[in-house]
Amino acid sequence: MADFVGAVDQGTTSTRFMIFDHSGNEVGKHQLEHEQIMPKPGWVEHNPTEIWERTRSVIETALHQTNLTAADLAAVGITNQRETAVVWNRRTGRPYYNAIVWQDTRTDRIASALDRDGRGDVIRTKAGLPPATYFSGGKIQWILENVDGVREAAEAGDAIFGNTDTWLLWNLTGGTNGGVHVTDPTNASRTMLMNLETLDWDDELLSFFGVPRSMLPEIKPSSNPDFYGKTLANGPFGGEVPLSGDLGDQQAATVGQVCFGVGEAKNTYGTGNFLLLNTGNELVRSKSGLLTTVCYQFGGEAPVYALEGSIAVTGSAVQWLRDQLGIISGASQSETLARQVEDNGGVYFVPAFSGLFAPYWRSDARGAIVGLSRYNTNAHLARATLESICYQTRDVVEAMRQDSGVSLDVLRVDGGVTANELCMELQADILGVPVSKPVVAETTALGAAYAAGLATGFWASTEELKQNWNEDRRWEPRWSDEQRATGYAGWKKAVDRTLDWVD
Ligand code: G3P
Repeated sequence: MADFVGAVDQGTTSTRFMIFDHSGNEVGKHQLEHEQIMPKPGWVEHNPTEIWERTRSVIETALHQTNLTAADLAAVGITNQRETAVVWNRRTGRPYYNAIVWQDTRTDRIASALDRDGRGDVIRTKAGLPPATYFSGGKIQWILENVDGVREAAEAGDAIFGNTDTWLLWNLTGGTNGGVHVTDPTNASRTMLMNLETLDWDDELLSFFGVPRSMLPEIKPSSNPDFYGKTLANGPFGGEVPLSGDLGDQQAATVGQVCFGVGEAKNTYGTGNFLLLNTGNELVRSKSGLLTTVCYQFGGEAPVYALEGSIAVTGSAVQWLRDQLGIISGASQSETLARQVEDNGGVYFVPAFSGLFAPYWRSDARGAIVGLSRYNTNAHLARATLESICYQTRDVVEAMRQDSGVSLDVLRVDGGVTANELCMELQADILGVPVSKPVVAETTALGAAYAAGLATGFWASTEELKQNWNEDRRWEPRWSDEQRATGYAGWKKAVDRTLDWVD
């Protein structure tokens, strides 16, 4: 009897495998980091082979630690860092180049050219995305144009593309020995190549980037009763388990937070922050700098869409304090240091390391620390860093209010940074709405497990999943309206200082 569901969460900095029981409780987990390769300013790469090896290890170790086998798993789901592009040879299984990561800005010329001749508006309409370095299309184009032999191999049908979900599904189902080449609409909706209405690759969009259709995976539902395939008996699971769920990580967290109703939203605090608002079967087009994206598509049902506010740098700003400035030795110390002061001492930090994403979409922006006087200390900088996470969230919440007319009553949060109590207190203060965190904070992996388990009947319905959600912590706003308004005005001024920095 299979009492559990597994989920691989292939993220930007690490890969984890988690096992959940029927109540959505975590029963096992293993996680490993992979190298962040930064060959030039603005370039960020991952080694796809390392990611596959890490994936194998975390699955094997988590199963070993829990004394479970493939027979105990009813299904396995995959969730992944979105947009990050891998191109490999379908005959040898070897990648042609490192994965180009979503944070990488090398395609800024490709992206800005799209807005000079009207193609940008076609992408906005058909794909729901502003042309930006963030998405996969320009990254595939860059590999086709800059890596020897790839263009010819792509024309011959040998070079194939995938985000890391596709790369792992291909390897888990056999790789060169018959692996499947598939993805789901949530991942495909981050490429600038999929039409949001047809949920299929769009020839006009493909032509903008010179991407042959033969490179692209087949798009199948995020929760797939027909399964993408089964794990291999001689693979890391040591047996056959249906692979039946696939969601981009932010959409997976939305499912894990059971935001199945129109108007329900969650905010995940990881390397970056990603706020998704469920808009149901309606495709809402943003006028305020948000993305329109697929939230999930379960089985043969109509797709559910979302508005998304993507913020590139939040948790990674805390890492920057640790790794580049050396003013803290671990992420949790950011809270201790920031608590040494009552307020930000007039300091604002805008961590526009990859330009600014939503709602600004300014690739010409670069980071700035402003408002410094000799009075300020490391503690003010730590506090300004935590505040920057919360102010960037306020920016996207304001944009969502404008686009949807929906004012949040409460913000559901998850992700690593939510362990930082001060940051969550500041979030409630800066937004002026309560912030609520569930008992199971690993909502990304949980959402992928839910999608996989719904497909095989392990869970009967989304109604059943809702029963699994329980609140763990809630932070109420304490700032006065005046304090909130003054703080936000300072932030907006600081953002202005970061623009037009790069020609
Ligand atoms: O769009 C990028 C996002 O999917 C990355 O999420 O959690 O891996 O930083 P994360």
